[in-house]
Amino acid sequence: MSDYHIKTLEEYFKVYRSSVDNPEQFWGNLAEEHFVWRKKWNKVLSWDFSKPEIKWFEGAKLNITENCIDRHLATRGDKTAILFEPNDPNEAAQHITYKQLHERVNQFANVLKDQGIKKGDRVCIYLPMIPELAISVLACARIGAIHSVVFAGFSATALSTRINDSDCKMVITSDGSYRGAKTIDLKCIVDESLEKCNCVETVLVVKRINSEIQMKEGRDKWLQPLLENASTDCIPEIMDAEDPLFILYTSGSTGQPKGMVHTTAGYMVYTAYSFKNAFQYTENDVYWCTADIGWITGHSYIVYGPLANGATTVMFEGVPSYPDWGRFWNIVEKHKVTQFYTAPTAIRALAKEGLELVEKYDLSSLKVLGSVGEPINEEAWHWYNDNIGKKKCPIIDSWWQTETGGIMISPIPYVTPTKPTYATLPFPGIQPTLMDENGNEIKGNQADGRLCIKFPWPSIARTIWNNHQRYKETYFTAYKNMYFTGDGALRDEVGYYRITGRVDDVIIVSGHNLGTAPIEDAVNEHPAVAESAIVGFPHDVKGNALYGFVILKDTGESRNQDNLRKEINQIITEHIGPIAKLDKIQFTSGLPKTRSGKIMRRILRKIASKDTSNLGDTSTLLNPEVVQDIMDNAH
Ligand code: WT7
Repeated sequence: MSDYHIKTLEEYFKVYRSSVDNPEQFWGNLAEEHFVWRKKWNKVLSWDFSKPEIKWFEGAKLNITENCIDRHLATRGDKTAILFEPNDPNEAAQHITYKQLHERVNQFANVLKDQGIKKGDRVCIYLPMIPELAISVLACARIGAIHSVVFAGFSATALSTRINDSDCKMVITSDGSYRGAKTIDLKCIVDESLEKCNCVETVLVVKRINSEIQMKEGRDKWLQPLLENASTDCIPEIMDAEDPLFILYTSGSTGQPKGMVHTTAGYMVYTAYSFKNAFQYTENDVYWCTADIGWITGHSYIVYGPLANGATTVMFEGVPSYPDWGRFWNIVEKHKVTQFYTAPTAIRALAKEGLELVEKYDLSSLKVLGSVGEPINEEAWHWYNDNIGKKKCPIIDSWWQTETGGIMISPIPYVTPTKPTYATLPFPGIQPTLMDENGNEIKGNQADGRLCIKFPWPSIARTIWNNHQRYKETYFTAYKNMYFTGDGALRDEVGYYRITGRVDDVIIVSGHNLGTAPIEDAVNEHPAVAESAIVGFPHDVKGNALYGFVILKDTGESRNQDNLRKEINQIITEHIGPIAKLDKIQFTSGLPKTRSGKIMRRILRKIASKDTSNLGDTSTLLNPEVVQDIMDNAH
């Protein structure tokens, strides 16, 4: 037997060693023993980071939904696969068994086929957190269509950019969504976005809020009647190991969002293996990840990883504050949740609400707590540990990225001793390292540098959709023969890693990855704006908030600054979504620039963070006088 389930620290070190010494043997054994294949691979791994080209399990044939659904039917057919908890606590939860999931995915897959979707076609999914979201993802995978889920908080413009970039033939959406006490008209957003898209032939619409919506003749179709006529049998499409499974967009430090492409076999093997170990999942557990399936966390650890292990995975439609801030704990009690995985921003927001709504509920079912998406500060870590885990539940501070597909550095609960704010040790198969500014690898512990990964792992994204050159430049050019993460990290005296944050122009706000460039582009759309620069600054709840420095055009007229601020945020909401709104907007006469015309964001970051004691070298600035002026008017 391979070492699928790690139970002790000694075992971890042994398994880790073998994963580094003999990676092909390690992953080959795991893949062979724990998954179903239609044909075995010819070669476990071939790779070349300089091209870059990475292939896992080449030659193998499989369908990921057979691994996530069909193979469980004999032993777990009546077990709950997806436990759906609606926005409204008075609406009944739905327990979708593996058998029912099988039928519903097949029906949906047949509808996709009837609508002309074929292997390799791209399907955009723009849905709230309702069962149809997970089911449509799996239905695409069933027939080999490439899903591109877009988080339903993104605006029409952001949606159309993503639809066009990957040339989607279909959009799956709903009439609307519930979000706490509010409803959102998703279909209207889709209609608006499709005014800018020529590639979409069909829009499938799920009825969720029963709102009156426009249906465009010939293009828009209600899903329900189509499902009713569809067979519950659908033979899975047999896929090559390296066939794309999905595209998921993530922000870059410049330009358009990057459509990260994940492929089938390696992604499956790694998300399943990491899910099992990161959460120490056992058969009767009820696992809950609070993320949205619109992000990688939801893809890997609500849908694919848990289902590949035959787990029960909770899907929550609502928000933590509705009907009150006790909702999360209410759900933990109600469904006897055993593993709970959330983001530091949620923990901080919940901590602010006090303990009364925590103490009201029985949280004794919990065994493992997880954190993901941004560094967890010490205070939040202790609050989580003391009040939610009652000091009995290990916290796994798991570091990873959209690009990595799965958890890379994280404690294994009940195995790795935890240390607040440290993601601790790499998972088997993951070879992290720290690089210095000169491109040299930093050896030994107690180090501080840029986090890179030296060796491929099965779930690394293989390319950026339609832009392999950008993939190469973003991840494989800064350091020779290394994958560069964009994060800084420390390594302590025992080799534990602590992620310190992004070292590029990506800012993590409330756990959402935002590139500054597209937000600046949106701000610059305002007719009164000449130029802008956006940086992050520390925020109590959100981790980081956005600070915009804006130069207005000199039109001679005076403008109301508060109105301008509102208008600028409105444009951001329209172009990207409310998550990218600026917390502070400072109007300024100039921005600090180098002689080559580059904005010196380092200085703006310090000013926004009120950390101006040492601004570093400003002598290379073209306009040093502007710095004092900005400081005088900051915050
Ligand atoms: C960036 C990736 C991975 C799923 C959610 C985010 C930051 C992620 C941690 C952590 C410190 C973290 C990094 C990373 N990040 N997890 N445990 N500690 N920082 O995926 O949107 O692709 O963002 O999130 O900066 O590069 P993503």
